[in-house]
Amino acid sequence: MNELKEGGVASFFDLNGKIALITGAGRGIGRAVALALAGAGSDVALVARSEDQLQSVAEEIQALGRRAISFPADLTQIQQQASLTEKISQTMGGIDILVNNAGINIPEDSVDVTEENWDTLMNINLKGAFFMAQAVGKLMITQNRGGRIINMTSQTGSVALAKRAAYCASKAGLNLVTKVLAMEWAPHEILVNAVAPTFVETELTKGFLADPDFREYALAKNLLKRFGKPDDVAAAVLYLASPAANMVTGHVLFVDAGWTAH
Ligand SMILES: NC(=O)c1ccc[n+]([C@@H]2O[C@H](COP(=O)([O-])OP(=O)(O)OC[C@H]3O[C@@H](n4cnc5c(N)ncnc54)[C@H](OP(=O)(O)O)[C@@H]3O)[C@@H](O)[C@H]2O)c1
Repeated sequence: MNELKEGGVASFFDLNGKIALITGAGRGIGRAVALALAGAGSDVALVARSEDQLQSVAEEIQALGRRAISFPADLTQIQQQASLTEKISQTMGGIDILVNNAGINIPEDSVDVTEENWDTLMNINLKGAFFMAQAVGKLMITQNRGGRIINMTSQTGSVALAKRAAYCASKAGLNLVTKVLAMEWAPHEILVNAVAPTFVETELTKGFLADPDFREYALAKNLLKRFGKPDDVAAAVLYLASPAANMVTGHVLFVDAGWTAH
């Protein structure tokens, strides 16, 4: 994983021979990440709950001539993550890249947040992501061929957003988990980073970005005055997954159009 191959700059992003596991790959950012990694040569394992969505992404990728296999699963079932990881590894021939992208948001005033909603959100965004990294990290250590783990966080892991106490906490927590894992697993050449996007137009944001006042607010600190596209985020994930980022670990890469710069 750590040798930049001969063959010029294009080889910096060459993922031929790699196997990537992408969670939340059925739509939105995860779908774009799966297509980008496959486009760079990686085989991909796709995980989310909605089997039909995974299947449709798998077919898109297969049409590019790449291997793509769906593994439908609910990642809040923590006790099943080790067997899921084992199944994916057996089927695909190991795992070199994990993109921990699955996540949800439940916007609500802090005075209204129930324990149930807090747990529902944390169980996927933080606990699910940590234990997925643990399961895949253990496998990567055993494989002894290095690896990449990329956690999908958010600008809201660093700056406050009203009605998102649990969401902000989950992303801030995952940013710091990223750094701890980077520290612990560097001796195994497993590089762990996070990508922190601003608002991207997907299913997740469709509801609140339909509100003109919220749209105005969401662009107020955005220096480029446009919302992100899933491919904007996928490009950053591709960089962190590829030989180009051989020297990068424990980093949170903002794809936020300068939102957090001022
Ligand atoms: N869109 C944005 O503005 C934005 C900004 C910053 C960060 N992010 C982060 O980027 C990631 C992707 O967001 P998105 O906008 O692409 O959202 P999305 O379109 O709603 O996609 C979320 C994906 O996660 C999967 N997922 C959710 N719960 C799951 C569970 N329990 N088990 C397995 N898979 C699960 C969903 O599939 P199923 O529902 O079928 O399981 C879906 O494939 C999230 O972590 C989000 O927090 C998004």
